[in-house]
Amino acid sequence: MNTADYISRHINGEGKILEVKELVENKTEELKDRVSKLNRKPKLAIIRVGGDYASGKYVANKIKRCKEVGIESEVIHFPKDVDQMTLEWEILRLNVENTDGILLQLPLPKHLDEYYLTNLIETEKDVDGFTIGNMGKLMLNQEGNIACTPKGIMTILKENHIDVNGKDVLIINRSNIVGKPLSMLMLQENATVTIAHSKTKDLETKIWNADIVVTAIGKPNFFEAKDFRPGTVIIDVSINFDENGKMCGDVKKSDYDRLVEKGCKISPVPNGIGQMTVLSLIEQTIEIAERNICYK
Ligand code: GUN
Repeated sequence: MNTADYISRHINGEGKILEVKELVENKTEELKDRVSKLNRKPKLAIIRVGGDYASGKYVANKIKRCKEVGIESEVIHFPKDVDQMTLEWEILRLNVENTDGILLQLPLPKHLDEYYLTNLIETEKDVDGFTIGNMGKLMLNQEGNIACTPKGIMTILKENHIDVNGKDVLIINRSNIVGKPLSMLMLQENATVTIAHSKTKDLETKIWNADIVVTAIGKPNFFEAKDFRPGTVIIDVSINFDENGKMCGDVKKSDYDRLVEKGCKISPVPNGIGQMTVLSLIEQTIEIAERNICYK
């Protein structure tokens, strides 16, 4: 079979860069409309500790999107040497206050117990889906809050009519935030899932054999067009910075055109998963509110 035949037979048709601009615009309008049907504004509370630059940028982005969609937000910012007890009290306060979603921005400074603090958040208000309760629900196919990056990835695939049913999906990441929850979502949609990590043998062959590759290894421009089989769908989750300080993913940006030529679809960095993650967070805050609030 030559390459053209191969691509035409392949599950996902023509090559394409999976830009999210239009999807984000449409979804923003849909979310605004959902908010307008509620009898009060949903509210997201974000707890931030310390002055980490990247965390600051992420939080600012989340707040900007909340405003755009018309939901309330509050940032509670603590100094980096805040003690564990102060954070515990803050989370317990938010659990009983008029807040729909609570987010504890990670990572936390080393002296704080990230796992313990995250799990103090009420399951229903855990907008990140990181608590044992929500992770367990995901495992058991029960409705709950889902980690926002995997949720965003599934939205991008769905909106681009990329069916995962029966497909071989390789996820190169085993974190609690991306790899594990995503594998569950893929499994629910009948994909055959492989999770790869730093100890995985023969990654090259696994990449070559996959229909869909999700990468979040955090290595700037690591993969090249030649690493992927024609027609592969590539979801690049990493937000890296190259030697010139330019944002990039794990897949070499200068190879995007070559990938498209060989029938691959690739979600770009920037303007890919990062934007969908933030929008998924807003969507999930609204979903929680919809469960709590009366309609007009
Ligand atoms: N830090 C980086 N990404 C995330 C996220 O999705 N949620 C939280 N809570 N912290 C993060």
